[in-house]
This record gives sequence, structure tokens and C-alpha cells, in this order.
Amino acid sequence: MSQESHETPTADKPRVLVLFGGRSSEHEVSCLSARGVLWAIDPDIYDVVSVGITRTGRWTLMPHGVPRTREGTLPAVPEDGETVTLVQTRVGPRLMLLPDDVDAGAADVVDADRGRTVDLGGIDICFPVLHGPYGEDGTIQGLLASVGVPYVGADVAASAIAVDKRQMKHVFAAAGLPQVAHDVVRRADWERDPEGELARIEGLLEYPVFTKPARQGSSIGISRCTDTESLRAGVEDALGYDRVVIIERGLDGVRELECGVVGNDDPVITAPGETIHTGASFYDFDAKYLEPVKLQCPADVPDDVIERCRDYAAQAYDAVGARGLARVDFFYLPDSDEVLVNEINTIPGLTPQSMFPPVWEAQGVAFRVLIDRLLAYAMEASEESARYSP
Ligand SMILES: Nc1ncnc2c1ncn2[C@@H]1O[C@H](COP(=O)(O)OP(=O)(O)O)[C@@H](O)[C@H]1O
Ligand SMILES: [Mg+2]
Repeated sequence: MSQESHETPTADKPRVLVLFGGRSSEHEVSCLSARGVLWAIDPDIYDVVSVGITRTGRWTLMPHGVPRTREGTLPAVPEDGETVTLVQTRVGPRLMLLPDDVDAGAADVVDADRGRTVDLGGIDICFPVLHGPYGEDGTIQGLLASVGVPYVGADVAASAIAVDKRQMKHVFAAAGLPQVAHDVVRRADWERDPEGELARIEGLLEYPVFTKPARQGSSIGISRCTDTESLRAGVEDALGYDRVVIIERGLDGVRELECGVVGNDDPVITAPGETIHTGASFYDFDAKYLEPVKLQCPADVPDDVIERCRDYAAQAYDAVGARGLARVDFFYLPDSDEVLVNEINTIPGLTPQSMFPPVWEAQGVAFRVLIDRLLAYAMEASEESARYSP
């Protein structure tokens, strides 16, 4: 492929790198989110370059954005794209297409055109539309920070805390936020003495309980357990995703509320939306992405519940040190009138089924406007970080 076939950046427009896919089990969800973001970025204001990260972690040029898929199937980054990489150069961060020989790991495939690295132009800002490990957890953020590319969303530390339910709960507890009772099982302890661990958990929490890998998302690896055997299975399943498993008291008759947050120093917080369960015993992966879901924005709850959610969302955002955007999720127990903070997501789903876009729509902020603001917050955060750089 020759250099001319790649879109050449226009000098006056900021160039946005949209990253999607990735190594986590939320690969497809990320692709769905990226579809929305690519649609929403205004081409009159920004030049967009799409890079899909394969499941093995290879960055590939995706000139046509997220691949189309048949109804009922989820998109993924194909393995046949050309490998690109982001590097800092004398003239700033640039995206490079690797030569064929390096890409194929063999010297004999060099062709005249691709025997050298192809410069695909400068990158002004990155929108990592990635969920879960290697995307939402600070790893990509660290790469972008070290190469010197401003990016949308939380920094390395805030991302790492928010993605790890154990650390997140510690930070929320330190901030005095109300949460559901929980405990932790570590792989090493489980392997040494599973019966002891089961007995310990059963002494602490009543059934039902939820088992969750500490660092996952999209309900992957989560089970609702009602007795010793299902708890054993739930822990084993969650240990397939992480060496730390969270066990939580299962809440029945709970309503799930979610607030959108955007901004840096003075974040703006939406009224909560509600996800209304249809059929599924909880909001699992299929319920989230493959079945129709009902989102009610704003949620039909008393005003003081809305205010508590907003207040807790602001505290949760500040406690983990988030920037740019986040979604803060709550459990609302109507019988006891309790609002508990469930989690914060620093790269919330932006799929057609997701709550983040509609809670902003309900607030009068269209998705395109929201995406434009997120890019502006990223530039603002990057300028601020530069003040503290040597
Ligand atoms: N303690 C709990 N009680 C009742 N339902 C829960 C509990 N924990 C999780 N759930 C259900 O499982 C879903 C996913 O759990 P969550 O902690 O939000 O993980 P994820 O990071 O995968 O979104 C929640 O949206 C909710 O429907
Ligand atoms: Mg969740």
C-alpha cells in the first residue's frame, strides 16, 4: 500500500486518533462504542484516524472505521489490518505504518513500496474508546502519556483504581461513600483452602451473594450465588478472569441508577438514568448488549434520591481522581430508601444500548456536543499536566 492511499491530515484541523477493540473481553463492546464516537466526531472540526487494536494487542489501521456486522452479531477488529504504531518524533507524536518485513517478521517479503516505515501524520489527541483491562485500566493511558499524546478521560492512576473493584471500594470507603457489604477471595488462599474460604465467606455474608472478578466489566465473570456449590462455581469462574474475586451481598428488589459525569476541575453531573431489567435475573452481558433494554432518563425516583446520586457521583469522581468523563452507578433500595455506590467506570459504554449518551440527551446535551466537549477537556487536562512536567 502506498502512502498516497492514506488520508493526508489537513493542517488546520486537530487530528484525533480513535482507538478501539483491544485485548480485553470487552473487545466487541468497545467496537460498538467506537462506532458511536466515530459517527459523532465532527469532520468539519477534526480529522479522524481509526486504529483497531486486535485481541492480541496489535494496533491496525482501520481506514473505514468499525467493520459492519450482521444484525445480532457484534463487531470485532479483524486480524488482517496493517500494523501501525505511535511514536514521539522531533516534530511531535506521529502514527507510523510498519514496513511489511517487520510486520511479517521476515525479511524476504519486502516490496518496493513498503520496505520502509510510512509516516501517517501527526496525532494531536487520542480518544481511547476501550473498556476493561488494557484499555480502561491505565495501561493505554500510560503509553499515551509517555509518548506525549493528550487523551480523553482519566489518567493512569485514576483509571487503574477505578477498574479494580477492590481498590475502588477502598477509595470509596475512605471517602465515606455508602457501599454494599463485601469481601475478597484471593487465588492463592482459594487454592490452598477452598473449603476454609467458603466457610469464611458464609460466616460474613448471607446468600444470595455476587461473585465478581476484581478487574473486568460488562458483567463478564459475574455470578449470582445462592448456596455453597454455586458460590464455589462463582469463585472458580471469576478466578478465570482475575487473581482477586469480590464477593458482595446480593441485593434483591434493587433499582439500578447511573449518573453521567464530564469535566475536569468542575465536573458536570447528570440526573441519574435507570436501567430497567427485562427478564434477566441481573443485568448480565446478554441483557446489556444483545437484548433490548429499557433506559429511563431521568429515572423516576424521588428528588432527594436524585440529589443523593449526584452528590455521591461528584464524591466518587473526585475520590478516584477521575477526569474527562465517567459514569457512576448506584443501587437504590426503595424499601429502605438507601442509595449505595456500586462502581465508577472511567470509559463508560457508548453503545446504542448504553446509559451514558441518553442521560446527557435528557439533560439537553446531544451526543455530538458531548464528544466535542470530551475532546476539549482532554486538551485542557493535557495543558494542565504540562505545567507539572519538568
Ligand atoms: N451486590 C449486588 N446485588 C445485586 N445485583 C448486583 C450486585 N452486584 C452486581 N449486580 C448486578 O450485576 C451487574 C454487573 O455488576 P457490576 O458490579 O456493575 O459489574 P460490571 O463492572 O461488570 O458492570 C449489575 O449491573 C447488577 O445488575
Ligand atoms: Mg456495572
